[in-house]
Amino acid sequence: MAHITFNTKNIENFVADHELAEMQPLITMADQQLRNRTGAGADYSDWITLPTDYDKDEFSRIQKAAKQIMSDSKVLVVIGIGGSYLGAKMAVDFLNPMFNNELPERDRQGVKVYFAGNSTSASYLNDLVRVIGDQDFSVNVISKSGTTTEPSIAFRVFKQLLEKKYGTADAKKRIYATTDANRGALHDESVAEGYEMFTIPDGVGGRFSVLTAVGLLPIAASGADIQALMDGAHDAQVEYSEADITKNEAYKYAATRRILYDKGYTTELLINWEPSMQYLSEWWKQLMGESEGKNQKGIYPSSANYSTDLHSLGQYIQEGRRDLFETVVKLDSPVSNLDLPHEEGNNDGLQYLEGITIDEVNTKASQGVTLAHVDGGVPNLALHLPAQDAYTLGYMIYFFEMAVGASGYTFGINPFNQPGVEAYKTAMFALLGKPGYEEQTKDFRARLGE
Ligand code: PA5
Repeated sequence: MAHITFNTKNIENFVADHELAEMQPLITMADQQLRNRTGAGADYSDWITLPTDYDKDEFSRIQKAAKQIMSDSKVLVVIGIGGSYLGAKMAVDFLNPMFNNELPERDRQGVKVYFAGNSTSASYLNDLVRVIGDQDFSVNVISKSGTTTEPSIAFRVFKQLLEKKYGTADAKKRIYATTDANRGALHDESVAEGYEMFTIPDGVGGRFSVLTAVGLLPIAASGADIQALMDGAHDAQVEYSEADITKNEAYKYAATRRILYDKGYTTELLINWEPSMQYLSEWWKQLMGESEGKNQKGIYPSSANYSTDLHSLGQYIQEGRRDLFETVVKLDSPVSNLDLPHEEGNNDGLQYLEGITIDEVNTKASQGVTLAHVDGGVPNLALHLPAQDAYTLGYMIYFFEMAVGASGYTFGINPFNQPGVEAYKTAMFALLGKPGYEEQTKDFRARLGE
């Protein structure tokens, strides 16, 4: 089956062949730390073998639960934040038509999927409650720690909505909890209330968890093929099993971006040319940023949606500070295409485009932008996706996970922890007066002049 390919032909002016070869010892060291589980944070590297070793019984339960949701609900509300929602959102958007939730039921494979608990916005929750209206719905609440504030708040709101609509006993049958196997508030509540539970394996961190129940249940409920997703990841696991950069494209990507970083290209823009791939960038930003951004090191992961952002960020990318490089994720063939409609005359000046498809315009635009940006001093890497399907997505997920695992070790950091995300929580809890934060409350309130 065709799979993703990584292309470096547009960095010839920026990276010499010998520089890539010189990265091999560092990559070999990183590969050994990763696979022999001798590197920092190795307890959280079970994602490496997940596409082979996943829990098949739980996988069947996920498929069964998805069918149940499709049979008794029109809507699934997926509650989670960070690694507990971005992968699912990426996949639901990538594997379904744009505007899937707005399509008539007969044109949709699964239920409508909405996400909640990924912000502290009251308006968002109110608006989503209004959108659900009187439609039948179920809830998948996802939290590894089981104590994260944003999803906990949203869960209260939607749990009470379920109880009001269906009564306490029947509401419980519509709640699916994905959390730690043994501990945490969500775990304890789920056991006590009898919710159907799915587990997030101990050795898989949030941002690496899309191929666990965290991603799989919402993706399956949307009607997408989760077996093909796992098959793609499995084949990538086999493909990216060597340390040799010339044979392992995930490592070639890791090595190339590391060389660029050492030359001062410290910001990477993930580029897509399909609106349905915007959340691919959001998922990738968390994966890269939370894994690499430590000890004042790491490539800053950013993104741009083309051609949309060429009309906003394009100027900066072409002529601003020369510390950017681009990694373009380009589909080799779109899910659907469209001929430019014929029109008499040439009032809109588009006659020269007649006879070509709109996807050909997209492709020519992407080729032209790459040439212009390379001329402007922006190194350009490319990842080609043969199709917008579940197999390809699974393959790509594994490609980026493998790349960032190795990359983190080349930076000499622990790619699997996220100590920095606690700082804001301490300040927020102190200001909200959470028990246990009394010491900090005084200090933070004083700084706000309260
Ligand atoms: O990658 C991570 O660990 C974080 O982004 C978490 O996924 C996020 O904070 C949500 O945590 P939890 O699943 O414990 O609610």
